Amino acid sequence: MSVSIRDAGQEQLIVATGLYKSFGGEPILLDVGVEVFRGRILGIIGPGGVGKSLLMKMLAGLVEPDAGDVTVLGQSLQSLNASGLARVRDRMGFLFQNYALFDFMDVGQNIAFPLEQMGVPKAEITRRVAERLAEVELPGIERLFPNELAGGLKKRVALARATIAGAPILLYDDPTAGLDPVTSSKIFELIRRLHRPDGATVIVGHDIDRMVAVCDEWLLLHEGAVLFRGTTEEGRASSHEVLKTFFMETGMLGAAA
Ligand SMILES: Nc1ncnc2c1ncn2[C@@H]1O[C@H](COP(=O)(O)OP(=O)(O)OP(=O)(O)O)[C@@H](O)[C@H]1O
Ligand SMILES: [Mg+2]
Repeated sequence: MSVSIRDAGQEQLIVATGLYKSFGGEPILLDVGVEVFRGRILGIIGPGGVGKSLLMKMLAGLVEPDAGDVTVLGQSLQSLNASGLARVRDRMGFLFQNYALFDFMDVGQNIAFPLEQMGVPKAEITRRVAERLAEVELPGIERLFPNELAGGLKKRVALARATIAGAPILLYDDPTAGLDPVTSSKIFELIRRLHRPDGATVIVGHDIDRMVAVCDEWLLLHEGAVLFRGTTEEGRASSHEVLKTFFMETGMLGAAA
């Protein structure tokens, strides 16, 4: 199938090539390439267990590929030492699939965590946490604990934490898993609002009906490889059977209007 041809001169903030990863002799990713362009929102989709979370962790430098290379903001992650890697990671905000909020910290402490790691002064942290909570429409809930919040609110707190440090590259792994459609729409709206036009956003998700309002382009993982990458229009126009089935099952074609 054809892969779309990009405009020359498009700036890539993340380029991954030839990613291979196996666990216990079982290959998961075979030869995966990803490009994330400045200003864009990329949706990564594919069946459960295909390796989407694994791929995101590789883009964030949290998991090393067995083969292949990930370059973020012009730096090859494989060539960096621990402090170099930490500096690149400071330019990325990450929302993990299972929220990964610290249950022993209140909301304020959770969101403050990345700023504390960076040594930001206390008064500034307090101000920025309050601002960010207002931005995700949860003002004043600093003293609540994660287990006092419903799923959708936890996700919003996780969004606040992922974006608090002002990182240009934002990676969200399944940010609406288990949420109802209305709450999911709200989360995607926030993701779009928090996206930095001078940066880039990557969303792993299943909820294509709602992602379609946010994502500029797509990458479909299938059996360890990239089956498709391109825009929404290109995805809809594709006559590839697996692609059609996948998009139809998830309602994307139905949403086309
Ligand atoms: N650290 C690990 N050790 C062993 N196997 C792993 C590890 N990480 C991932 N895997 C395996 O790699 C495969 C891909 O996992 P991954 O979590 O990336 O899938 P996914 O596409 O994110 O799925 P889902 O849509 O359910 O979130 C799975 O079979 C998983 O068991
Ligand atoms: Mg996953």
